[in-house]
Amino acid sequence: MIEQTLVLIKPDGLIRSLTGNILTRLSEAKLEIVASKMIHVSKELAQAHYQEHKGKPFYQELIQYLQGELHNRRKVMALVYYGQDAIAKVRELAGSTNPEEASPTSIRGSYGRIRTSGLFENVIHASTSAPEAEREIKLWFSPEEIIVDLYPTRLMTLEKAKVRQWA
Ligand code: PPS
Repeated sequence: MIEQTLVLIKPDGLIRSLTGNILTRLSEAKLEIVASKMIHVSKELAQAHYQEHKGKPFYQELIQYLQGELHNRRKVMALVYYGQDAIAKVRELAGSTNPEEASPTSIRGSYGRIRTSGLFENVIHASTSAPEAEREIKLWFSPEEIIVDLYPTRLMTLEKAKVRQWA
């Protein structure tokens, strides 16, 4: 099935200069990158992304982790991969969520670790299912930032909207 999935290279992946290695590993899936950007992650975005984990013991630290507060690197690289069985292919290359259970040849198995607090510092996020991918992609990207039409859109006329342009 042709599908799309969200990938986040988390702050530990960025500060450890793993971006190139991670993208090279992901290229093995022969998928198309249809959106990518660097983004400062607000608390609101981090909380919305991990909304289903609210209340879990690691939740507060997970939010700090995605915001870059644990690594003093306040940015994340967000990408949308598109193609045949994109969700399963990316998750296979990413490896298990727990870096200690991940195959040693996977991205998380190669580069992830568990903090002494118990938090998984697992370098990347990858969507788990088509509904989750849709929710996450719509959270991280606007339609104009994606070069293919993934989901239905609507045209809105915004009056008095302020946009920043090149001076
Ligand atoms: S998954 O892979 O999304 O199905 O796993 P799930 O268990 O649903 O997601 C949990 C996210 O919380 C992060 N996290 C932890 N989970 C469990 N235990 C501990 N200690 C823990 N620490 C962090 C985990 O990495 C998942 O986030 P992502 O971004 O998907 O890796």
